[in-house]
Amino acid sequence: MSTHGDTPLTTDDAMRRALELARRGPEHGPNPRVGCVLLDDAGRLLGEGWHAGAGTPHAEVAALADARAAGRDVRDATAVVTLEPCDHTGRTGPCTEALLAAGIGRVVHAVDDPDPVAAGGAARLRAAGVDVQGGVRRTEGEELLRVWLHAVRHGRPWVTLKTATSLDGRVAAADGTSRWITSTVARRHAHAHRAVVDAIAVGTGTALTDDPALTVRPEDGSAPTHQPLRVVVGHRDVPEGARLRGPGGSFLQLRTHDVAAVLAALADRQVRHLLVEGGPRLAAAFLRAGVVDELHAYVAPVLLGAGPGAVGDLGITTIAAASRWHTHETVRLGDDVLVVARRTDTPPATTEPGPLPTEDS
Ligand SMILES: NC(=O)c1ccc[n+]([C@@H]2O[C@H](COP(=O)([O-])OP(=O)(O)OC[C@H]3O[C@@H](n4cnc5c(N)ncnc54)[C@H](OP(=O)(O)O)[C@@H]3O)[C@@H](O)[C@H]2O)c1
Repeated sequence: MSTHGDTPLTTDDAMRRALELARRGPEHGPNPRVGCVLLDDAGRLLGEGWHAGAGTPHAEVAALADARAAGRDVRDATAVVTLEPCDHTGRTGPCTEALLAAGIGRVVHAVDDPDPVAAGGAARLRAAGVDVQGGVRRTEGEELLRVWLHAVRHGRPWVTLKTATSLDGRVAAADGTSRWITSTVARRHAHAHRAVVDAIAVGTGTALTDDPALTVRPEDGSAPTHQPLRVVVGHRDVPEGARLRGPGGSFLQLRTHDVAAVLAALADRQVRHLLVEGGPRLAAAFLRAGVVDELHAYVAPVLLGAGPGAVGDLGITTIAAASRWHTHETVRLGDDVLVVARRTDTPPATTEPGPLPTEDS
């Protein structure tokens, strides 16, 4: 429960707090991470809440409950929320109704809801006489929600491609040995990232050569709260005894080479974030299809001089046609470096833009 703050908060302070609260929600899953702060007309904190994932109350409802539990009057209060309140009845009623029933006088949000099913919250509130202001700390809100926003806007998951290479871009030596090029600290970092995605994909080549488990295994030995769906793309059979079929997330084989079909099948399963872990041919297929949104390139100060590259043929024959990205972030991991790179353009939709199925909370 929040404490009743004596120091008045500006709307901007409250939005910063709401964004912090939103980050407490799980990064994976079908629903957006949302935070909400309620202020009285003097800017004092009345209540706060966040959405803890599908099947739990929305942030606005959690904040109202927090205020009520403390016996605070929320009539005419301001709700500061990271995403436009939904106007959609799922497992719970629309947030717009909860806010109106509570007598909230003003709503300030960071990001407009692009989901055609749930959007219209601002208009509904305005029609009921509530003062609504959008776009406060919008850039931060969009960054926080980028995976979910992308999935809703483009009708396909956000795709992260992970590679682990030598300094000269190779994933294996000439004799095929590849364990390990990057350091333990880099591998742990890459492993931890699995916990925030909904699905991990590899090609049959990697599944058959490396026999990966593709599971989340917390370093402290605790039980993982979430295991991503494990996806193998390609026609060849994955043996019965493969680790991919062992304990961990559900196993799904998609016997196709059509990247758009892979993404459509995963969108149907409410996958918002797909991590492609290779190998080179599957990586190239995703890149050629123009659907990789972020690259996670782990690079070790190791030289091999020969051996396969991280990415197969992209059909690029001249430097003017190079696939260029911008560096979003670099992380030093012991002797290795992680480069997080993003597309420089807006990713195209591979399916008709529209809502993904939402597991409503
Ligand atoms: N260091 C790293 O980052 C890293 C990561 C992963 C793998 N690797 C290494 O990569 C090697 C395997 O390389 P790989 O290229 O064979 O692995 P891959 O990309 O995992 O698998 C390739 C296979 O996937 C299937 N496939 C599915 N969709 C495809 C498409 N659109 N286009 C072409 N093929 C498609 C094809 O098999 P079907 O005939 O069965 O359809 C193809 O032969 C292993 O040695 C592994 O250790 C390295």
